[in-house]
Amino acid sequence: MKVAFFSAKPYEREAFEALDHDHEITYLEERLTETTAHRCQGHRAVSVFTNDILDATVIHTLAREGCEVIALRCAGCNHVDFDAADETGMRVVHVPAYSPHAVAEHAVALMMAVIRHVHRAADRVRNGNYALHGLTGFDVVGKTVGVIGTGRIGTAFARILGQGFRARVIAHDPAPNRACREMGVEYTSLGSLLDQSDIIALHCPLTEQSHHLIDAEAIAAMKPGVVLVNTARGGVIDTLAVIDGLKSGRVGALAIDVYEHEGPLFFEDRSDEILKDDTFARLLTFHNVLITGHQAFLTHDALEQIARQTVANLTCIETGAACEREITPADLQAD
Ligand code: NAI
Repeated sequence: MKVAFFSAKPYEREAFEALDHDHEITYLEERLTETTAHRCQGHRAVSVFTNDILDATVIHTLAREGCEVIALRCAGCNHVDFDAADETGMRVVHVPAYSPHAVAEHAVALMMAVIRHVHRAADRVRNGNYALHGLTGFDVVGKTVGVIGTGRIGTAFARILGQGFRARVIAHDPAPNRACREMGVEYTSLGSLLDQSDIIALHCPLTEQSHHLIDAEAIAAMKPGVVLVNTARGGVIDTLAVIDGLKSGRVGALAIDVYEHEGPLFFEDRSDEILKDDTFARLLTFHNVLITGHQAFLTHDALEQIARQTVANLTCIETGAACEREITPADLQAD
């Protein structure tokens, strides 16, 4: 199948080129947007990542240019306008579980870095400052860790925290799972999780229900000094509310791999540009905020799995086989 591969990065291209397959891939460095959508011309499928635009305008353009398939190289599909996909008969496939461990382990790395001030400490040592004031952290063992969303990633995170760190893990999820219960995770309401947790980790998808789940009211209900970790989607947190929480000290530290308005920022070298996003600029001023640019997925293992599953999805569609990784309107209603 001819595939227009948007937002192509060298590390992803390497993973796709290492595989043996018959698809003809055109690698395009640009993001899929209203302006670039016409570049899908002559391709039956587009392959896209998390920050490509898949709103109604773009999907209608893709359909007009003869494209029939959107192959997401990610799990989350919150950026796809499924009404437009339905109207145009566009089929959408994704990679639901490339490596939950990659994301969970990155969440742990971020969490530990802010709790033990690793980023500040490393800067100090590099600058010849070996003083320890301001670097006091806390032990995670025995602390209460609240996990919001215990799907593949949340479960992997809960296992590391519960069985590795021996923290008390509590969770909130409208669909609790057996694996978590069996490892001793206690499910509770959102309110009770906010009230009890020393550390809160977000692992739920971005949906209408979870948009700004962490808002001013939720932050006011948290323990003073709570550590917030978000590797899910930026929109789950109301960033302005969390900035207020950081200023008041209610939020003790924030570690994020995703940002509400990351679309125009992430995945590119913008070091020569003037940062125009004042909210992001404010976040960067806090010494107790650590931000990575949506890289939780970025392990060799996950990249290989993304490439394998994307190729398999395209092959399924090309051969007319049922594709298990297809997202249909019925799946969305089931959520
Ligand atoms: P999953 O579908 O396996 O699990 C999501 C869980 O969240 C489910 O158990 C679901 O019941 C629960 N959930 C849904 N709405 C909720 C709500 N309002 N409150 C609490 N729980 C809720 O998804 P998976 O694979 O664990 O991924 C989770 C999210 O992580 C993805 O949706 C994606 O946004 C994000 N992600 C981030 C990556 C990164 O590089 N930063 C990479 C991959 C995924």
